[in-house]
Amino acid sequence: MSTVTRFLLDKTSEPRLQAPAPAQDIVDTAFQCAARAPDHALLRPWRYLVIEGDARIALGELFARACPDGASEKEVEKAQKAPLRAPMIIVGIASPRTHPKVPDVEQLMSAAAGMSFLSLALTDAGYGAMWRTGGVAYHPIVHEGLGLQSGESVVGFLYTGTVVSEKPSVPRPDTRQFVATWSGPGCCEDW
Ligand SMILES: Cc1cc2nc3c(=O)[nH]c(=O)nc-3n(C[C@H](O)[C@H](O)[C@H](O)COP(=O)(O)O)c2cc1C
Repeated sequence: MSTVTRFLLDKTSEPRLQAPAPAQDIVDTAFQCAARAPDHALLRPWRYLVIEGDARIALGELFARACPDGASEKEVEKAQKAPLRAPMIIVGIASPRTHPKVPDVEQLMSAAAGMSFLSLALTDAGYGAMWRTGGVAYHPIVHEGLGLQSGESVVGFLYTGTVVSEKPSVPRPDTRQFVATWSGPGCCEDW
């Protein structure tokens, strides 16, 4: 088994993170990995924002403002503090381009693949990473505050930093639960 396959089989997302954040050269390499995402017509339909230090407090204020009417004080406080769960947050943004053969959904998938590559590269460098979204990822207040342009969307917030403690292992499904051989129409109806 190759080391890449072994790494993929073993990788986990880590929610409990602390300083230090990944060093600049590690982050640069991780972005180069993100840019290797499958990308139909090489449209580069993605961009990223790196948020560190006090900018996390500003992000938390956006999250608090994006809480639904009727949210409790506790819920608003939780949203406000959310970005402080890691020393660095990387916002993945899908930026679809107009193209006759590449629909927006393919460009969104390319951006999501890039987020995965980014997360894997940071993990391979010895840091923890956790892809998060929640309602804030889709909220216009957050979009405006992050400077999203028309047509852009947030793919996710990648929280990254040094792992405080590894989370309990996540059970992995048996591949037979989600893989079948298709041999023609009607062959997989009982699946
Ligand atoms: C688009 C997307 C959004 C996610 N949002 C959240 C989230 O908001 N909160 C959360 O706990 N996990 C979220 N996850 C799941 C975690 O990133 C992670 O995949 C999950 O905890 C499984 O952990 P593992 O990578 O160790 O298998 C999201 C995953 C994806 C792909």
